[in-house]
Amino acid sequence: MCGIVGYVGPRAALDVLVPGLEGLEYRGYDSAGVALIGAGGLTVTKTAGRMADLVAALDAEPITGSVGIGHTRWATHGAPTTGNAHPHRDCDGTVAVIHNGIVENWAALRAKLIANGHEFASDTDTEVIAHLVEDRADMDLADAVRDVMKLADGSLAIAVVRTDEPKRIVAARRGSPLVIGRGDGENFLASDIPAFLRHTKKVIAVDDDRVVDLTAESIVITDLDGNETPISEREIEWDLEAAEKGGYPTFMLKEINEQPTAITDTLRGRIDGTGRIEFSELELDNKIIRMIDKVFVIACGTSYHAAMMAKYAIERWTRLPVEIDIASEFRYRDPVLDDRSLVIGISQSGETIDTLAAIRYAKAQGATVVGLSNVVDSALARDADAVLYTRCGPEIGVAATKTFTTQLVMLQLFGLYLAQNRGTLDPGTIGNLVAAIKELPQTVERALQLEDQIRGMTGEWADTRDFFFLGRAGDFPVAMEGALKLKEIAYVRAEGYPAGEMKHGPISLIEKGVVVIGIATDSHVRAKTLSNMEEMKARGGTIVMVVEEGDEDEVASVADHVIAVPNSPDLICIVNAVVPLQFLAYHIANAKGLDVDKPRNLAKTVTVE
Ligand code: M6R
Repeated sequence: MCGIVGYVGPRAALDVLVPGLEGLEYRGYDSAGVALIGAGGLTVTKTAGRMADLVAALDAEPITGSVGIGHTRWATHGAPTTGNAHPHRDCDGTVAVIHNGIVENWAALRAKLIANGHEFASDTDTEVIAHLVEDRADMDLADAVRDVMKLADGSLAIAVVRTDEPKRIVAARRGSPLVIGRGDGENFLASDIPAFLRHTKKVIAVDDDRVVDLTAESIVITDLDGNETPISEREIEWDLEAAEKGGYPTFMLKEINEQPTAITDTLRGRIDGTGRIEFSELELDNKIIRMIDKVFVIACGTSYHAAMMAKYAIERWTRLPVEIDIASEFRYRDPVLDDRSLVIGISQSGETIDTLAAIRYAKAQGATVVGLSNVVDSALARDADAVLYTRCGPEIGVAATKTFTTQLVMLQLFGLYLAQNRGTLDPGTIGNLVAAIKELPQTVERALQLEDQIRGMTGEWADTRDFFFLGRAGDFPVAMEGALKLKEIAYVRAEGYPAGEMKHGPISLIEKGVVVIGIATDSHVRAKTLSNMEEMKARGGTIVMVVEEGDEDEVASVADHVIAVPNSPDLICIVNAVVPLQFLAYHIANAKGLDVDKPRNLAKTVTVE
């Protein structure tokens, strides 16, 4: 996820681009850059780091122009360096491109361009677009962009300027967001409305596979064959702060709702046309994958709950033994590791010091370490032997939401990848599970429709002090995560517990007024979870059951409330089951008037032991 912005009109473009990019920094902030077309031709300034670094570079060496494009990056291909920052140029510096998304076939396009004599200056997927436009120098710029859009696979929101068309920006969209702002004698483009909201409230949404031709006086939108398409314009009523949250009252609610897109982006390019799982970035020799005889999964907080799920998935699908550890405990138990051990370190930020210390310890014992992070080139990514990335864009709310569900998806896919490469599961079974994973953006989208039901049910619990979240097998990590969410943002005592373990002690806490939430989506233990929930009901607890659609009748007699999530196979379904529990914590916290994005005593990234 990156932020793009463009301006064409009478002003100094930088006066629009710089504040616009500052408004988009929530989309990515590892590097930034601008390209202007002015009297002296095309000038590009870019820097690694935050917008403040770019502003300092522009102050040190001012550039001018009234047509310009700008970008704030959240790295997907290539480390967050100045060289990889956007805009990217062609060989002779006449074309500049900014891009949000992923060009999936970039490697093949790049190889072909290099064979034809193009020289590349970055490691990014985006740079191929600049060179492809360069190859079409004799074409009208919009025709060239339409042509390039037909060649590039994947998700793209791009904006292109070319020195021979100095009063024009051509942009295009497929998958990644792009909006146009109509001004008076000036026009704007951006990934998101906050980038230009201070200049205009007239907004045009761009559909997929559309090319936008922008001058100061005109906006023309065409399909990829050049046919003009109708423009529908609307007037925005949000203020700037509301716009940064995409119209949602909080970042957390926005991020919960971004989960279908985050999962789509995370899956992109990882399953080929035949259903085979491919991790192009995972530089791990197949020999190592075949040699490992034990797996450790290490993480903290919510990421640890993803590790719990990974244990079930990897053991079930590969028959490799898996140990899971809270990172801050790992080194102190003297774990038995050697060069046949695979250690998976999970950290969305990639900077959690407990997790870093644990994987460094594991590496020192000879283990192979795979990192799973949401931040390209984070410390975890650099320290690990190989790395996998979720692709959620920055998560601003302290409570992990979209980073968790994408961790679950990546770990499920990685478990199946191990099974595929070690031959422990038949291809048909892998194919069915992969197909279910590919459906998750749709099933999670449907799970988001449960919000109203959950808001209604939690209204009466604003003053409830005790919650239990119970589950068995794959539902147990969901229970743990539901409890953690409630604790951290609503400041309520909430315990996540294995449903079958309650009778060995904690059941003495169950009485009238205690809310007990049972998760029962893992079919091979559902009947047992239900029996355990009967035990909670018999002691006076208020019972909420999270089940799959179609199972509502089975739990009707035990449950005071039933939440039915869309069906997916066992383990895969838990991704759907997490969503209502995120809403549950959110609406209880919200009803108490708490700051859900910045809960007390917590930090988004924990860099102390
Ligand atoms: O960045 P990490 O995934 O390593 O963070 C680990 C925990 O600090 C984090 O998951 C924390 O528990 C969240 N606030 C949970 O919502």
